[in-house]
Amino acid sequence: MLGTAAYWHVEHASFERLLDFLEGQLNVFQDGARPNHELMLDVASFLRHFAPRCHRSREETAFAFIVQSAPGMRTKIDRLLEEHHVIAAKADELYTRLSNVDAGDVAHREEVEAALATYVTSYRHHITAEEASRGGCVLAACSIYATLSRNRKRHTIDTFFDPSH
Ligand SMILES: [Fe+2]
Ligand SMILES: [Fe+2]
Repeated sequence: MLGTAAYWHVEHASFERLLDFLEGQLNVFQDGARPNHELMLDVASFLRHFAPRCHRSREETAFAFIVQSAPGMRTKIDRLLEEHHVIAAKADELYTRLSNVDAGDVAHREEVEAALATYVTSYRHHITAEEASRGGCVLAACSIYATLSRNRKRHTIDTFFDPSH
């Protein structure tokens, strides 16, 4: 269980680096220069697909267990789940805007800038909130782990949470 939280932390750090890149491109936009459109599209595509299918799906599985074990965390977990939907919608919007314009299309620059700025801000906020609640999540997850281990379901839960199994 502790390994699972550490794994999420590593993925969050990777996402932060990609958000840094997107934010850097936003600065390029705002300076009136030409951003790296192809790489932005690759990064936006990766975040749009990998995050929901791999990272968020594991988080949401864990969140369900956490709420079961620690009902006091329900409000916090519900907020994080809602943010997943909001971020997914913003990721779709960003990808669509980047796909529909080429790098030199000044007419759509402001729309791309706005989509970039809101996506980066929302995702950063979400990662910060998840990292801040990681301690509580780890404690709750450890308690679930202990219960399931007693029930001889240890391998099942390990496989569920840890993608390296
Ligand atoms: Fe999340
Ligand atoms: Fe996350």
